[in-house]
Amino acid sequence: MSEQNRSGSDRVVLNVDNLRIHYATPQGDVIAVSDISFKLYEGETLGLVGESGCGKSTTAYGILQLVQPPGYIVHGSIEVEGAEVLDLTEEELRKFRWTGLSLIPQGAMNSLNPTMRVKDQIIDVIESHEGKQSDKEALRERIYNLFAQVGLPNRIYNMYPHELSGGMKQRVCIAMGVALHPTVVIADEATSALDVVVQRIVAQTLVEVKDEIGVSLIVIGHDMGLLAQIVDRIAVMYAGKMVEIAPVENIYAKPLHPYTQLLIDSIPSIKERKPLKITEGITHDPRNPPSGCIFRLRCPFAWEHCAVEEPSQIIVDEKHEVACHLFDEQFEERRSNAFATIANS
Ligand SMILES: Nc1ncnc2c1ncn2[C@@H]1O[C@H](COP(=O)(O)OP(=O)(O)O)[C@@H](O)[C@H]1O
Ligand SMILES: [Mg+2]
Repeated sequence: MSEQNRSGSDRVVLNVDNLRIHYATPQGDVIAVSDISFKLYEGETLGLVGESGCGKSTTAYGILQLVQPPGYIVHGSIEVEGAEVLDLTEEELRKFRWTGLSLIPQGAMNSLNPTMRVKDQIIDVIESHEGKQSDKEALRERIYNLFAQVGLPNRIYNMYPHELSGGMKQRVCIAMGVALHPTVVIADEATSALDVVVQRIVAQTLVEVKDEIGVSLIVIGHDMGLLAQIVDRIAVMYAGKMVEIAPVENIYAKPLHPYTQLLIDSIPSIKERKPLKITEGITHDPRNPPSGCIFRLRCPFAWEHCAVEEPSQIIVDEKHEVACHLFDEQFEERRSNAFATIANS
């Protein structure tokens, strides 16, 4: 892929290639992640967006080799700084999680251990990788430092999770996620359970921590408006497929995939009140996807060809990729007509 990033570096820290993940069910396999490819560059923040059930969390679990049965990786490659994650042994993987790649899982703040003090949960993370720490004073200093990085006061050191607000609990999870300075941090819906004001502040903290300790970040979310404020590039998923990937300013100014257009259109604006566009159409059975393009049942521009061939990722310009037949050169005229429709709507 040729996408670039705003972080300035073109060093690829994570390369996901043709990753496919299924969940086996008695009625057949659910295709949760369907042959997706993307890169993450050093120091950048990539937003992974799409509606509930499109495969965002499964992608995150896949990258960390944490897919639980009945889920399984069908094929693909996940390289972190050139090393293939799928080839790591259990012991190597254990070290790799938190230090190479760390995940702040969806709902993390509600799975903090209610019977353990905040400090002990963080110490657990540190000691599970670095062994017992004999210098307790240094350990405390290190945790205070982490607190400062994520905007937590030192007084929570001895507190229990139930004594903290939602925003503070989420900050504790971020502190745990970055404690061992991983190369890549994946934050799965890290702010979704918080109220809107706190959401923004916590999301901002995530980016500040990222800059301070120099990690690369994947932020998973479904709120395009919030993501736009913190990410460099956006990758849009629909029903297990990567449908578009581009720098955030490109995707807002000129969304290409019909699904991305609907997503952008659904961001509410107070200045300009527009009627809500309802996405009519049928969502397919994830065990039995339609032929050709995955979005064609809901797509306002679909035509016969969309049922015949699956669109591959087309490089529209060096920064912008889209998986839609409309951007295939041979369908230029169809694209102009489709865009005229949008302009007039
Ligand atoms: N344990 C499971 N068994 C069967 N299907 C699952 C399981 N976990 C997730 N899925 C399915 O995989 C798809 C992707 O889920 P998920 O990765 O959680 O999506 P997202 O995080 O985007 O909401 C969904 O269709 C979901 O129903
Ligand atoms: Mg999820």
